[in-house]
Amino acid sequence: MDQLPKDRLRERSRITVDGPERAPHRSMYRAMGLTDKDFQQPFIGVANLATEVTPCNFHLDQVAREVKVGVREAGGTPIEFPAITVSDAIAMGHQGMKGSLISREIIADSIEVVAFAEGFDALACVGGCDKNLPGILMASVRLNIPTVVLYGGTMMPGRFQGRSVSVEDVFEAVGAHAAGRLSSEDLDALERAACPGPGTCGGLFTANTMATLVETLGMARLGTSAVPAVHPDRPLRAREVGKQVMETLALGIRPKDIITLKAIENAIRVAAALGGSTNSVLHLMAIAGEAGIPITLEDFDRISRETPHIGNLKPGGEYLMADLHQVGGVPLILRQLLDAGLLHDDAMTITGRTLGEEVRNFPLPERAGASRVVYPVENPIHADGALAILRGNLAPDGAVVKITDPSGVVEFTGEARVFDGEEAAFAAISAGQIQSGDVVVIRYEGPQGGPGMREMLSVTAAIIGQGHVSDVAMVTDGRFSGATRGPMVGHVSPEAWAGGAIALVRDGDRITINSRTREISVSLTEEELAARKAEWKRPEPRYTHGAFAKYQRLFSSASLGARTTIWD
Ligand code: FES
Repeated sequence: MDQLPKDRLRERSRITVDGPERAPHRSMYRAMGLTDKDFQQPFIGVANLATEVTPCNFHLDQVAREVKVGVREAGGTPIEFPAITVSDAIAMGHQGMKGSLISREIIADSIEVVAFAEGFDALACVGGCDKNLPGILMASVRLNIPTVVLYGGTMMPGRFQGRSVSVEDVFEAVGAHAAGRLSSEDLDALERAACPGPGTCGGLFTANTMATLVETLGMARLGTSAVPAVHPDRPLRAREVGKQVMETLALGIRPKDIITLKAIENAIRVAAALGGSTNSVLHLMAIAGEAGIPITLEDFDRISRETPHIGNLKPGGEYLMADLHQVGGVPLILRQLLDAGLLHDDAMTITGRTLGEEVRNFPLPERAGASRVVYPVENPIHADGALAILRGNLAPDGAVVKITDPSGVVEFTGEARVFDGEEAAFAAISAGQIQSGDVVVIRYEGPQGGPGMREMLSVTAAIIGQGHVSDVAMVTDGRFSGATRGPMVGHVSPEAWAGGAIALVRDGDRITINSRTREISVSLTEEELAARKAEWKRPEPRYTHGAFAKYQRLFSSASLGARTTIWD
């Protein structure tokens, strides 16, 4: 691809720093050490989501520093700025999780607003925890200025009783401890061992899923996402990203050239092939929505049905993200799927080369294809993908299930045990009131009803921890953590707050979940549902002012990615 003429690289920053009338602006920059030479170079915004609220982002200052070195070495002027992060794991299991999905929107808004106001010519964005990369990608397509994303990397595995563990094991241990199946001493020892240093939660949970997808989408340098946070290669990778953003700017490649229908389809394919987090459905819908790409839940279902499940990664499988790095990282997965003709190989990337060109030129370790971390496409774990979209009278607008059972299907019929909110459900489970065969229904946890669509990891982990690995199901209008496993259906739409059928379910109703037939239904006739709906009254909003009241009004349905929308 041809490079743009040099004078085209400063189209935005020129407005903020060139000419006599911008003397005050330059004066402000000089106060921070910028020089005449800096003003003549492109301004590269470096969005650094470093924070001490979570180990996922704890180390990002070092990563961003290296990115800036790379930008400088390539002739750019880096200008660092922050965006917020909420730690999903630390917000889990209490009211705080309502801030998680809201944080995705605030990350997107804050990057958009800063880059807009400051007139950056391009962006390098460094993020880690779950909502970082979705928020970054949403901002990038809104701004549509050259952008390169760098993921901060996964945490290394902890070791406990001779096995690799992550924070998922600690969540599940809480349930085992409550059920008397794990001693307090062992719970304490596991707590101290599970998270040995900086980086994101170790399995193919939401952050690592989105990191995999950001490479697949072509918005990150190939081979950067699976590198662990503390790996010695990380500074070098970060510096390369600084150089890359200058190259992407010079080539004039913008996010909307990269995030196209083909790229989104590739991302859905990889999420299905790996058994990635159900949150990827929500986030890809939101990113596609920002880019104006018409994707529906049916596209996820169609692609998943045509995709072999090849990722043997936790929570459904055996390995952690650090293990994936050992065998070739994301390029290994992409190579398998490309060779099988399952990806659009002509999708554009930040380098100006296609995904196919990038992947085929990437050096994989010897015998990478023989690993048990990623199965061969011709001999997959399951013949079809791990994400399924269910519909029926309980979720006319759709619901999402991730199939983590070794059988490759979810087939469950049981009696509803209904709870308005997560706390009530967790209390019942902790008190041993949930029995084999129950379908735990947790409602008023949707995007608007929560608000914020809390993730139910504490509840699902408690169920698993009590030994109910596949004999208790859950249905919710909230979300699941990427670490959730078992027959758990989320994103039920319309949500209870909107008067969806989930608001009408009562204890003892029979609920059927079937991933073969893509069904989720309650044993009520249309007339019975209509009669209950006539009696239904929406509860009072939980928040009447501040951010939570605001986002309650702005969130769209989970079936649309729960993106904030300006309602007429
Ligand atoms: Fe950040 Fe899990 S809490 S990735």
